[in-house]
This record gives sequence, structure tokens and C-alpha cells, in this order.
Amino acid sequence: MLFHNKLIAWYLQNKRYLPWRETKNPYAIWLSEIILQQTRVAQGLPYFEAFLTTYPTVFDLADAKEDDIMRLWQGLGYYSRARNLHATAKKIAYERNGVFPDNYKDLLTLKGVGEYTAAAIASIAFDQIVPVVDGNVFRVLARIYGITSDISASSTKKEFQLLASELISPNEPATFNQAIMDFGAIQCTPKSPLCHNCPFTNDCVAFQTNQIENLPVKLGKVKVKKRYLDFFIFLDNNKKTLIEQRTQKDIWQQLYQFPIVDRFVDNKIDVHSILQDKYPSIKYENITLLNTEHIIHILSHQKLHIHFWLINTSENIDKGTYWKDLNNFGFPIVIHNFINSLNLKHLTKQ
Ligand code: ADE
Repeated sequence: MLFHNKLIAWYLQNKRYLPWRETKNPYAIWLSEIILQQTRVAQGLPYFEAFLTTYPTVFDLADAKEDDIMRLWQGLGYYSRARNLHATAKKIAYERNGVFPDNYKDLLTLKGVGEYTAAAIASIAFDQIVPVVDGNVFRVLARIYGITSDISASSTKKEFQLLASELISPNEPATFNQAIMDFGAIQCTPKSPLCHNCPFTNDCVAFQTNQIENLPVKLGKVKVKKRYLDFFIFLDNNKKTLIEQRTQKDIWQQLYQFPIVDRFVDNKIDVHSILQDKYPSIKYENITLLNTEHIIHILSHQKLHIHFWLINTSENIDKGTYWKDLNNFGFPIVIHNFINSLNLKHLTKQ
């Protein structure tokens, strides 16, 4: 039996029921694909529902306030996706009358849409015969076809794209692409794949040669930098605190945070002199380190070591935000969670 027939037969028995599979609406499909970049299906699902409920059409999303989008995105990470989502929604709504490009090449011109996403949308929404190729597909094809090329080398992608374009079903490209996604996610998993009931065991080079654990080959690894962040939570008697928006081209762009000292070396900071230097107008009574152990937060290329300091002041913080209003702002999830873990009564009593 042909590869695509076997794969699709497996899919029809095993597929996951996902809301974006019940539609051909390019807006919903594009939204799902952006959310699912670097995000697992289980994590992305509630965000997909929330976005589609809040912004049922591309016009609603285009008209939304950026801060509201960022807040709804909170917790998904890789926040440039949310900014690109908004930029592309505006382009589609205002420059294209709400009509999405209907082919791979034109989809690629949209902000936030790379090769994988363009292939997914082109095939799922428009039945174009373009294969998706990502880590899942590398793994499935490397194992079944015994490919030993290093998948961390950029040249390897072409090899897999070529093979996948020979394998894709010309009649059912949408089903084929979603089938290979699910096969990689459910059956041919990175650890402990379900080889005992796999339809490909007879053809699978890795299975036949006992190489499942060794394929795909991944040699290069990203270097993760350590970064040290100290946040200052000012609090006055009116329960107001200071927050600021991150505007630099850096992690968490456009999200909010408390005033910060940030560096890549593990040196102790002198909080008193920093406060005198940077906030000379705020007279403080107490400084308390709220977490003696660093909070560790891991991003794709950085390992963050975070301290939160509480600075009580009896002076009114003019440009402050009421503590109860903090949930109107999009914070990085690690700060959001820390805020929610705090008991305001304890903080103000200090
Ligand atoms: N991952 C990326 N796109 C997906 C989709 N359409 N279905 C399931 N998982 C995915």
C-alpha cells in the first residue's frame, strides 16, 4: 500500500478531534496554526477558543487593541507571534478586504507565517499539495526511511521537504498533512513510540534495524544563556505600584513588568544605591526580598533567574497603577503568576 494511503488509514482510526479541523475558514485555520507554533495542542486549544470567541472574524482581530491581544495571549510565550498576528490581521482586513491569500507562495509573505505555517494553511484551507515539514515530520520520515542526516543542520530540511513532497497525497493533501502531524504526536513519539501497533513496522528502517532510539539524528544544540533579573515591586499606602512596558527588541516585547535590573552575570545588586540612582524621588521605608531562592524561568535561548523585591513607601506613587488593576495588563507569565501568588494584605502591612 502507498505510504499516504497507509498513513491516512491510520489517521481515520486515530485522529484527534480538534475544532480547527471542523472548518475550511482560512481565518480560523491561520489562527490555529499561529497559536500552535512552538505550542502543544493541549496548551493551545483554550487560546484558540478564546481568540475565536473574542474575535470571531479577522476584522474583529484587526480592530482590537494590541494590549488586549497581548493579554489574551498571556502564558503562550513567544510574544512576537501575537504582534505578528495583529499586523497580519490588519493587513488582511484593511488591505485585502478580509480575503486571505489562497496559495503557499503568497501566504509566505504574511508576517509570522513561515514555511510550515504557509504549507499547513495552503493545504488545510485551500487543498494545495504542499507538505508540512517540522520536527514531527523529521522524526517520522527519518525513522521510516532510515535517514541519518543531522536535523539541526539547516540544509537537511530540503532533503525532508523533497521526500515529503513525493509522499503527500495529491488528492487529500489536507488530510495527509494533519495525519502526519497526529502520527508524530501520538504514535511515532520522540520517547517510547508505539511500535507494537504501528502500521509501518514492516517498512520502518529504524524499527527493522533497531535504530528507533537513534533517529532522527540531532547534533547541534542551542546555547542557553543565563540571565539575572531583579524586579522592584513598589507599593504605597493606596496600594499603587509602578509598572512599565517593555519596548526594547528583546524577550517579552510590549508586555508589562515591574521596574527591573537585568544582566547576564550573576552579581549581587545593591538595591539601596539602585533606588537612589533611578528613583530618587521615591522615599521608601522597607525593602524585602520576597523570594530568597531565585525563580527559574526557561525560555528557548535563555534561563532566567528572577528575584522580586518589595519596596514599601508611604508617599503617593504619582504614576502608579492600582494593584487591583494589574490584571488589565499583559505580563510575562512568570510575573503574572508571582503577582497572583502574593497576598496584598501581607505586603502592605510590612
Ligand atoms: N500542529 C501544528 N498545526 C497543527 C494542526 N493543524 N493540527 C494539529 N497539530 C498541529
